[in-house]
Parts: sequence; C-alpha cells; structure tokens
Amino acid sequence: MSQQTLAPELSAPALAQVSFEVNGQQRTLSVDTRTTLLDALREHLRLTGPKKGCDHGQCGACTVLLNGVRIVSCLTFAVMHEGDRITTIEGLGQPGALHPLQAAFVAHDGFQCGYCTPGQICSAAGMLAEHEQGWPSHATADVAAEKIPLSDAEIRERMSGNLCRCAAYPNILAAIKDAGGLSSGGGA
Ligand code: FES
Ligand code: FES
Repeated sequence: MSQQTLAPELSAPALAQVSFEVNGQQRTLSVDTRTTLLDALREHLRLTGPKKGCDHGQCGACTVLLNGVRIVSCLTFAVMHEGDRITTIEGLGQPGALHPLQAAFVAHDGFQCGYCTPGQICSAAGMLAEHEQGWPSHATADVAAEKIPLSDAEIRERMSGNLCRCAAYPNILAAIKDAGGLSSGGGA
C-alpha cells in the first residue's frame, strides 16, 4: 500500500465520547482515544491541579482519586473511565473549606514550590483510606495485624511514589501525621 493511501487515515484522530463524574459534576467529553486522563482533566476541563511532572508514572504529581483510590492520571486513558468518579485537588477542598490534609500542609509548611503538592495531598488522602481499610505496605512487619500502626516508615513507604524536588519530605510527613490524627512530633 502506498504512503499516499495511508497518510489520510493515519492522520485522522479516533474520537470517542466518555462521561464521568469529576469533583461531583457529571462531565461528557469527546476526546482523541489516546488522550490520557491527566490531559483530559487539564486540557479539556481546565482542572490544572493535577500536574504533569514526568508523564511516565514516575513522580506522582498527577495523582487523583479514582472511585476513592489513588492513581497516576498520566498512565491511564480518559476513555477507560466511563461512569467513574474522579476527584482532583480542586474537589477535595476549597479556600475557606479546606480538606484536613490541605490545612495540615499549610500549617506544617509541607511545600516549597508547590508543584508536587496537589499530587501529594491526593495521594495522602488515598493512602490514609488504604491504611484505614487494612492494606499492608512493603514496610509492614506484620501483614496479619488487626490494625497496622501508621509509623513514619509506613507513611514514607506508602508515599514513596510521590516525589518532591524541593525535598519538603519532613514537613509533608508531619502534615500527613497531623491530618491522620497522629502525633506530628518524633519518629514512630
Ligand atoms: Fe504522572 Fe509523573 S506526571 S507520574
Ligand atoms: Fe516543590 Fe515538592 S514542593 S516539588
């Protein structure tokens, strides 16, 4: 087959419609099927809270909650999420009505440039829910324990997919402990 025959077909994007709930609102988009969830949120819905740090699933800056579970939105296609419920940092809390994690990050100075912060906070929200449900981590000594202690090591391990180039890790840890109802002083 000649190049001239193939070119028009290859250049035409395959569009598809997808409907999902974003921050409590039903949204319907017509997107190129190759559009990631991150790009759908940022470029189509103008929700710029989720950040594009690496676009390769390595930094966690794009973390959002999908049906309450944290995911990196750069590694999944928007069209895979028909009927799903997505929460971005914009949906967790608002100025004047901050989510406890947002308030704790402010109180503990858990950021410097702030680029990783929306992902850190969404990830922390998902992480605390996972812990509450008894999910173990690689740092868990006794995976059969009825209640896994949420030690500093547990939090660090569970948040290890979220990188901070400003290295605000000690304050991020303190903020998560505070919001999780744990002591923010000393190492557990
Ligand atoms: Fe998705 Fe880095 S932008 S993990
Ligand atoms: Fe700058 Fe984390 S606060 S990358």
